[in-house]
Amino acid sequence: MLDKLKAHRAKTEGRTIASLFETPDRAHRFSVETGDLLFDYSKTSIDTEAQWLLRQLAETAGVARRRDEMFAGKAINETEGRAVLHTALRNMDGDAVEVDGKDVMPGVLETLSRMSDFAEEVREGRFEGQGGRITDVVNIGIGGSDLGPAMATLALAPYHDGPRCHFVSNVDGADIATALQGLDPQTTLVIVASKTFTTAETMTNAETARDWMGEVVSDPAFQFAALSSAKDKTAEFGIDPSRVFGFEDWVGGRYSMWGPIGLSLMIAIGPDAFRAFLRGGQAMDLHFRSAEMKENMPVLLALVGIWNHQVCGYPTRAVLPYEQRLARLPAYLQQLEMESNGKRVRMDGSALDEVSGPVVWGEPGTNGQHAFYQLIHQGTGVVPCEFMVGARGFEDELEHQHTLLVANCLAQAEALMRGRSMDEAREIMRGKGLEGDELERQAAHRVFPGNRPSTMLVYPQLTPEILGQIVALYEHRVFVEGVILGINSFDQWGVELGKELAKSLEPVLTGQDAGTDKDESTRMLVARLRALK
Ligand code: F6P
Repeated sequence: MLDKLKAHRAKTEGRTIASLFETPDRAHRFSVETGDLLFDYSKTSIDTEAQWLLRQLAETAGVARRRDEMFAGKAINETEGRAVLHTALRNMDGDAVEVDGKDVMPGVLETLSRMSDFAEEVREGRFEGQGGRITDVVNIGIGGSDLGPAMATLALAPYHDGPRCHFVSNVDGADIATALQGLDPQTTLVIVASKTFTTAETMTNAETARDWMGEVVSDPAFQFAALSSAKDKTAEFGIDPSRVFGFEDWVGGRYSMWGPIGLSLMIAIGPDAFRAFLRGGQAMDLHFRSAEMKENMPVLLALVGIWNHQVCGYPTRAVLPYEQRLARLPAYLQQLEMESNGKRVRMDGSALDEVSGPVVWGEPGTNGQHAFYQLIHQGTGVVPCEFMVGARGFEDELEHQHTLLVANCLAQAEALMRGRSMDEAREIMRGKGLEGDELERQAAHRVFPGNRPSTMLVYPQLTPEILGQIVALYEHRVFVEGVILGINSFDQWGVELGKELAKSLEPVLTGQDAGTDKDESTRMLVARLRALK
């Protein structure tokens, strides 16, 4: 089916996106709504035939069957022999979810209720540090144990009514040193977030935080909580089981913010708002499970991705939220999409003969407009853009700024599609009094090729429930793309080698090992770094 799509693309490549709007009602026929979201993909080069072929692709790839297997708790993460059930974490009023014949929902709901109790104790001052009420929470984690809660805590800042939350991830001491600066160890709660409780960066930072607290606080472990599946290791670290919140191996790191990994977010915004976030995710799950392919938002978002990347061959996609508080969303999506679908073999181990997932990048608008949009508009490569924007902000007194923000967002999508022709550019230059060769030269620089694809996700306002819908939408998009490519979106073996080599390089850097097994370049760099110390 991908071949048919590529053939169709080759046949229609010369046609402009703007010309597709000659088909009546295109905007409605190439957009979809669910819950609070509207997803418009009419400003892409997908025409009626491509739309049909893409749906066929989803059908023949077995997206519906695989989706049902995922929700049914089948071990679809085949390289690790695990079910994939982060959706159970937000299945708040849903049916039983069975793994190996056992309903996991009682355990999920019990953990959620323990988290809520602890969050309330912290927020209401019933859980105190040595110096009294907790004023600051420091979440130490990396990858999925950082990006999700960090992204969402910033996104939902208008809902904060709990202690301040800080996030530390990098093993670079600058990160933790900056985060701890100015905090009072006696009123700080440290949350060590690590599914495995072995990740080098997190464990190193956790020890640093414990030492920092231990200088002032007599029982630092009391002011620590852990979010982890490894109860033996959290106990070894000295954290009381009452402050350990666990989850099962069927929750992947980058899909884990819906459960205990979301504790810092829950403390910041409160359990009720956190539950609203879960309800948003659950609403998207229900839609994904029940909507027909042609009206299924995650499926369509995935198919647009497949069209742009695997069919048209555009190597990257930009995520451009016109929402300053979604500043960390591109980084969050980088892990979600690139760690999930950056694979080179299919589930059965055979080589993938399509390109794997795209490079995902982005920044909030309007900032990006004054940085990299130049390349998006006039560079020689094409970057499909995924815009998102809310109808309302939270700063009521600054409504005029929000109008400007929305105008910019819509204008960028329009400009990308329309472009500006040489004739239009000449006209502008003529208006400035230029003529002859100089007019031609200057006009050429002002041409926008246009015909550049973009999509738009519109929502009313960035509430917890809507953020839940957006995150779950992207999770399922990644899943559908993975199924179509036939890969395992739920393992991440590609991060292992670097971790192993870092371990072997530590003694080389400290001079305990000569590093004779290292290549010449690495040895030279080690020597230089040692000499520069
Ligand atoms: O980078 C690999 C990875 O395993 C991610 O998948 C995960 O989110 C991150 O490290 C953190 O892992 P953990 O929660 O076990 O510390």
